[in-house]
Amino acid sequence: MDGRGLLRSVKALGAGGPSLGLRAVRAALRRRRVDASALAPRGAERARVPGAVTDVESGPGGGVIRFARSELRLLVTVTGAVFWGWDGAGPEPSYALCGAAPEADPRAMLEPDKDGGWRVVSERITVAVSRYGGIEVRTPGGVVLRRVEPPRWWESAGGGVARWVQRAEVAADARFFGLGGRAAGPRLVDGTYRLWNTDPGGSFGPGDDPLSITMPVQWVVADGGTHLVFHDTTWDGSVSLQEGEEGDGSGHDRPGTVELRCDGGPLRCWVVVGAPARVLHTWVSLTGAPAVPPGWALGYQHARWGFGSAAEVRRTVAGYRERGLPLDAVHLDIDHLDGHRVFTVDRRRFPELPELARELAADGVRLVSIVDPAVKAEPGNPVFESGRAVGAFVRDATGREVVGTVWAGESVYPDFTDPGVRAWWGDWYGERLGQGFAGFWHDMNEPVSFAAFGERTLPRSARHSLEGRGGDHREAHNVYALGMARAAYEGVRRLRPAERPFLFSRSGWAGMQRYGGTWSGDVATGWPGLRASLALVLGLGLCGVPYSGPDVGGFTGSPSPELYLRWFQLGAHLPLFRTHSALRAGRREPWAFGEEVVEHARAVLLERRRLAPYLMTLAQLAARTGAPYARPLWWGAPEDRALRDCGDAFLLGDALLVAPVMEPGVDRRAVHLPAGTWYDAVSGAAFTGPGRVRVAAPLSRAPVLVRAGAVLPVRGADGGVELEVWPPVRGGTGGGLVVADAGDGWGTSEVERFTTRWRGEGVVVEREGGGPVGYPVRLREV
Ligand code: GLC
Repeated sequence: MDGRGLLRSVKALGAGGPSLGLRAVRAALRRRRVDASALAPRGAERARVPGAVTDVESGPGGGVIRFARSELRLLVTVTGAVFWGWDGAGPEPSYALCGAAPEADPRAMLEPDKDGGWRVVSERITVAVSRYGGIEVRTPGGVVLRRVEPPRWWESAGGGVARWVQRAEVAADARFFGLGGRAAGPRLVDGTYRLWNTDPGGSFGPGDDPLSITMPVQWVVADGGTHLVFHDTTWDGSVSLQEGEEGDGSGHDRPGTVELRCDGGPLRCWVVVGAPARVLHTWVSLTGAPAVPPGWALGYQHARWGFGSAAEVRRTVAGYRERGLPLDAVHLDIDHLDGHRVFTVDRRRFPELPELARELAADGVRLVSIVDPAVKAEPGNPVFESGRAVGAFVRDATGREVVGTVWAGESVYPDFTDPGVRAWWGDWYGERLGQGFAGFWHDMNEPVSFAAFGERTLPRSARHSLEGRGGDHREAHNVYALGMARAAYEGVRRLRPAERPFLFSRSGWAGMQRYGGTWSGDVATGWPGLRASLALVLGLGLCGVPYSGPDVGGFTGSPSPELYLRWFQLGAHLPLFRTHSALRAGRREPWAFGEEVVEHARAVLLERRRLAPYLMTLAQLAARTGAPYARPLWWGAPEDRALRDCGDAFLLGDALLVAPVMEPGVDRRAVHLPAGTWYDAVSGAAFTGPGRVRVAAPLSRAPVLVRAGAVLPVRGADGGVELEVWPPVRGGTGGGLVVADAGDGWGTSEVERFTTRWRGEGVVVEREGGGPVGYPVRLREV
């Protein structure tokens, strides 16, 4: 660990008191000892490449191509997604896929290609495999999107796990996105990004990598087309990205490169090409529809580490009410637990928690509980005893339970890769529901064990069930939090079948959207942290996880009133809108920052509430199509190079463009607009894209622009939905969608489509398919 890492560990441990520090030394020593005896050092290694083609076996959607020293399985599916796996790897088993792999496209067949290679041509993609195992991905028009070199493995003489590398070239103009939640994004600049879910310890800023959610999901956006590549392997690895460089037009371009190195696991991947919306739609058809949060979770939520007592919670809620500041949920952190033990309550500080929950619910405020995975290893602790009885905890190679250190002290870790353990854990949410909690905030599930040195997680040799297949932490680490989310989601569904579960989780993996969302984790207070928090949301959205948001105001210290307000304005336009801060950090209630901030925060909160029907529509559309609520500006125009480089603004659905202020002392800012006419949401001033414009950004609001012709479902004065209509350009048309809130259960609503156009001197709104519009219409003047 470098000096900065050590300092952070010490700082983070400081919050847990001096005895945690000593335990962290012991935990680190234990971890080292366990791994040293169980994991043999890699001996001499032999490199291997596939060699030349020997024969092929055609099958539905592709087939198997055999090489001298490997074989490649190729499958084009009916969804247009292509799978390939080396050394005979198939799509399953997979933690990312939501079910069986999609069916093979019966029209796609292996056919001979030039120079002794083979190819599969399908409607959306051509995959050509060279005689030595290089692979080209081409568009139907023949544009090469990706040129993948033959892979290379390294194997120890005595067998065991093979590590591998896969190198690819992409267009010189390509830009990279994704890889899970990356503070440096959304555009991923040249560098190496590790694939190992990691608690940064203390707090993080844009330079910190990796963080809690890493995913081998690469987005490559280039003039020639957009594609996504997902390497379905959960092992530790890294992705090195280097953007290319265009020459002078004489054909001397330097391509972009992507190099993926992995410590083990199957070398297999999925490739999806097409327009961004199509790519993400296909991605969620593979990995699962994003869970739709209940309506209240699209409101404003207030968290705090260190409320310290029920009285303080009541005081805080009253503070919001008295000032006319809408509040929808309060989150209780570990300080409400009895000695930080999961599934307990400190009854001295929080007597009658169910009563508090009822009282708040009557005011429209839900309670959300933190849930950490580690269980205090202590006789008499019912969670520990019951877990032991079912053999729930992760063991080392000698069969002893692995003991780590977290807030509660020495703790053991449920093995969420075991279906029986997931069922046992899921039942514990009954205790939380009984206390009156309506939602769950999963934390420390990378998983974390405090360590004075070395990695802050479980030993790599720790054993896991991996759905009965058996394996160790090297393979299970990255899916630990995914399993925890699944356990909770399924448990809460069993316990409260009529309600949609609400959970969000700090760590996760491809497919986590099936169970809920995430949040930024401990983003450092400061302008760089504000920027990083937007990068995370946009990157995660592209990886199929649309519901997330930052700790508004930052996790640490005290933001200036200006920084707080700008963060509040950004957070209000992201799916999860939540203030939160660390134990010894300053307060995050708007009134802690003075009367002017309270006034502006009130406007922000009222606007968030007004946009509730739009946000619910976006949540429902995300579940149907995978399109994230918050999208990069290039979403509808990936060919616009300038938009690919913009990380300081985003689209909120189709209708809104949000240009948050992310630096101090600003009252105007530049925005790069996609094509079309856009209106300032407050002044109605019109701007035309594509191109750069300057918009007003007074302290009172983040600039929001509305697409001409947009039909926006908003909450009217009577609480019902009304359509806010922005005129299309003269001679043009527009429209929008509404998916009504069908309550917090499993009821569904139809997608209602509306169009706008000019008729004579007026703008008319019509329901697609005919019939009355069915909602009051309010035409905005511009
Ligand atoms: C972690 C979480 C943070 C929480 C704290 C105490 O640092 O990321 O949100 O407040 O633990 O539970």
